[in-house]
Formats: sequence, C-alpha cells, structure tokens
Amino acid sequence: MATDIGIDLGSSKTVIFSSSKVVLELPNVVTVDADTWEPVYYGEKAKQTIGRTPDSLLSVYPIEHGVISDYDLTELMLKNYMEQAFGNKILRPRIMATLPAGLTELQHHSLSNVVEAAGGRNITVIEGPLAIAFGLGLDFSVPHGTLIVDIGAGTTDVAVISLGGIAACDSFKIASFDFDAQIIRYVRREYNIEIGQLTAEAIKIKVGCAVKRDIEVAMVAKGRNIFSGLPESFEITSGEVYDAIKDTLKLICNAIREVINKTDPDLVADIMADGMYLTGGGSQLSGFAQLISDYLGIKVHQMDDPTHSVVKGAAVAIKKPELLKNVDYQMRSIKELEIE
Ligand SMILES: Nc1ncnc2c1ncn2[C@@H]1O[C@H](COP(=O)(O)OP(=O)(O)OP(=O)(O)O)[C@@H](O)[C@H]1O
Ligand SMILES: [Mg+2]
Repeated sequence: MATDIGIDLGSSKTVIFSSSKVVLELPNVVTVDADTWEPVYYGEKAKQTIGRTPDSLLSVYPIEHGVISDYDLTELMLKNYMEQAFGNKILRPRIMATLPAGLTELQHHSLSNVVEAAGGRNITVIEGPLAIAFGLGLDFSVPHGTLIVDIGAGTTDVAVISLGGIAACDSFKIASFDFDAQIIRYVRREYNIEIGQLTAEAIKIKVGCAVKRDIEVAMVAKGRNIFSGLPESFEITSGEVYDAIKDTLKLICNAIREVINKTDPDLVADIMADGMYLTGGGSQLSGFAQLISDYLGIKVHQMDDPTHSVVKGAAVAIKKPELLKNVDYQMRSIKELEIE
C-alpha cells in the first residue's frame, strides 16, 4: 500500500503530514560552517543559534519568500527531516508538495527535484491556496469564487479559486517576518537597543496587534545597548508595536485588494456574499482578521489550525487526483499517481 505524504516547505518551517497527522514540524534553519558551508545543525537547534553563532558558524534560512534560495542546503535539510519523520519505513510514498501561488514552471520543477533528491518519489506540486481549497472541501464542479489569503512568514499568498483552479492570484514578498524586522528597527531607534529576531518574534506574538488594543499590554524584553555593548532590559507596549508595524499591515491589506481588483466581477460578487478565508501563522496576530475585514469590507473566516491548513489540504488533494486535471503542468505526475 502507498503512503501519502503532504509537505509544506515554508519560509519559516517545514511541516510533514502523513497518516492523518502532522509527523514533523521544524524550523527551516540550517547552521553551517562559514568556510565550508557544511551543515552543523538543522531545525530547532539551528533556529536557537540565530544571532548567537560564533564567527565560524552561520545560521541561514534556505527558503526565502516561499521559494528555494539555497538548493543544496534545502535538499540536505529535507533529507534530514524525512529521515527523522519516517526513518527508512516509507513504502512507495505519494507526495504532494506545495509552493506559493503564481510561480513559474521552473520553480515548480525545482521544488519537485529537491523533494526527489531528498528521497521522495511520485511527487506532485500544487499551489498552497489550491491545497487549502481542497482542505476546505470546496465544490470544484461549479464556477464560484472563493478568496483564500495565507499570511505566512515570508509570503502573503492571495488567490481566488473557482472550478478547482486559480482564477486570480499573487504571492507578495511581505509577511510576518517583516513585522519582526520592523520591531527590531523600532527598538533600535527608540531605545538604542539591539535585539535579535527571536526576541522580536516573541514581542510580536505576545503584545503585537493589528488594531490598537482597548487595554494596552506590555512586556519586558532584553537586548544589547548599541553604545555600551552591555545587556539591557526595556519595556515595550502593544501600542508601540502597532506603530512599528502599521505600514506593513496596510501593505498586506492593499495586496489583498490588488488581487480582488483583478478578479472577474462575478467571482467578486461570490466573495462578497461568502466572505474570505484567512489562514497562515502570520494571520494569528491579534486583530488581523478584524483589520482586513474593516479595510476591505468583506467578512473574514479565520481558519482553525492556521499553520497546518496548507499541508492538511495537500494531504486531501493527493487522494483526489481527478480534481487536479484542470491544471496543465501537473499532468505528468498525476498520471503517475493514477498508476499507483
Ligand atoms: N500568535 C501569533 N501571532 C502573530 N504571529 C504569529 C503567531 N504565531 C506564529 N506567528 C508567525 O507566523 C509565521 C509563521 O507562519 P507560517 O507557519 O504560516 O509560515 P511559513 O508557511 O513557514 O511561511 P510562508 O508561507 O510565508 O512561506 C512566523 O513569522 C511567526 O512569527
Ligand atoms: Mg506557508
């Protein structure tokens, strides 16, 4: 019997789904030897070393904005993750891997090749929003527009699905990592303190907000004074974080509007009637759904388990190859799926 595997190789982490559950979820970070580029650590340990490595080591994200930026490191990392997840127990796997919407055929092949080089077989690649549509159980037999927005770490993926295909889409290189970068800049400017990405992410998750909170919250964090070089604590409030990130929040709202503007009016009417589906780890920022809903005047359905909706959808899609037939570039691998 074939094993079905969904793989979401995101800008911040890899999620592998098999036998109805998440079997691996690890940061897409590799610590390498700065001279030889040989991997030293993968995953959680590599993430914890960001900003803390000696000069001889370097921690890198081999996937940027949802696409592979360092092919060799991605291959080694994924191989390591597949071994951690399955050992050598995988029996004739069928793999569905995902990538952002609107990319080139070459980028699809590149992902397929890297999964194959990491030990995968029978690989199909589909766009993340299409996978999410499978997970939502949309009726693919009728022409009806559904807007899906996935705010991840490195990309905001916006797509309108109709008849089981993508009617309009774009993938924007602006997402939750940008909030971290803005928080780092804000703290440097206002407090003369340098903080790392992990601290910025913790601030974003704990006190960040997309609409000003009625009751302000604050937290104490630590960094390094840029003048004295010594460790220093500071307190940062939700209002300050909002001020630091508000321009990016607006850019993301405008990006969604841009895709709606190029969507067929009949499909837009469907979206206005149904509301849109919001998912991705970045969408968990407090008040984000409300901001998008207010900005666009569209009801927003926040999906449960937002960091797994792509991979869970991919696992649904793999079982329904007949529904993927609208999409040309997948035909070769779909034929392989049918032979299984
Ligand atoms: N509670 C939270 N509030 C705000 N942001 C959060 C929260 N939880 C996670 N995030 C952010 O979500 C992002 C990760 O989201 P996700 O797992 O969807 O990204 P990804 O799939 O790896 O990236 P991409 O889809 O962009 O390639 C991180 O930047 C993380 O800081
Ligand atoms: Mg993602």
